[in-house]
Amino acid sequence: MIEFENLFYTYPCSQKPTINNLSLHIKEGKRYGLIGNNGSGKTTFLRLANGLYQPSKGVVSSYGKPLKYDRQSLKLWYQRVGLVFQDPEQQLVATTVEEDLSYGLCNLGKSNTEISHRVTQTLQDFNLEDLAHFPVNYLSLGQKKRLAIADVMILKPKILLLDEPTAYLDPKQRKELIKQLEHIFQEGTTILLATHDLDFIYRWADWIFVMDRGKIALQGTPDEVFEQKEILEELDLDIPLELKLSKGKK
Ligand SMILES: Nc1ncnc2c1ncn2[C@@H]1O[C@H](COP(=O)(O)OP(=O)(O)OP(=O)(O)O)[C@@H](O)[C@H]1O
Ligand SMILES: [Mg+2]
Repeated sequence: MIEFENLFYTYPCSQKPTINNLSLHIKEGKRYGLIGNNGSGKTTFLRLANGLYQPSKGVVSSYGKPLKYDRQSLKLWYQRVGLVFQDPEQQLVATTVEEDLSYGLCNLGKSNTEISHRVTQTLQDFNLEDLAHFPVNYLSLGQKKRLAIADVMILKPKILLLDEPTAYLDPKQRKELIKQLEHIFQEGTTILLATHDLDFIYRWADWIFVMDRGKIALQGTPDEVFEQKEILEELDLDIPLELKLSKGKK
């Protein structure tokens, strides 16, 4: 569905590439987890995947067709590959919830009738109806995160990328978010999310990529990945609590 081949990316003021020969393939209809230590390049990769950054070398392609970085191609790409930032403040742009949801569709030049229809539907899907006219600034963090996902999903992307969606959420909000993601997945959207929440990713993902110093160090099903104790230890990565407990019982 989307292929990343031998990507390199160096930040303008940096000496070394942050993304350093990274290759990764995403197939339709799967749940992907992206894990790795602080600074391993997860957020940078998500920005490359969404087309916000252009690799200095390597190819990003969809069904074998390379992404071009002209305005029109990028506009289509952003629609197909949606990215939810870690910090919802970076995503939310308008004054009220309803206006915020309309923003992306306005930019795409959709008709008022279509915008109104999709906003109503999305408010329902994301349980935001009661907050439709509420100022975005006054939302709780959990509500802001929910709105940031709704902002992306209203554009009906084929693949949803999320940067640490469960970070800083209390257990109840975390549970609700996981339920929401499952619903989005069941409706037909492929999901790839970066996280430090190993307990969640172990249970949720079909496939896990482990990043280290700008490339994929390890990948496989959750069981395959967390079996690789030596590699994980080398990368200073922990294993999910569930596995630790089951090991303790043996
Ligand atoms: N705007 C920037 N300019 C220069 N260097 C940057 C910039 N943003 C990130 N970096 C560097 O790129 C490297 C990778 O950062 P990135 O945020 O992609 O890692 P990450 O895996 O998402 O980390 P975390 O788990 O802490 O979110 C880090 O060394 C970081 O300092
Ligand atoms: Mg990050």
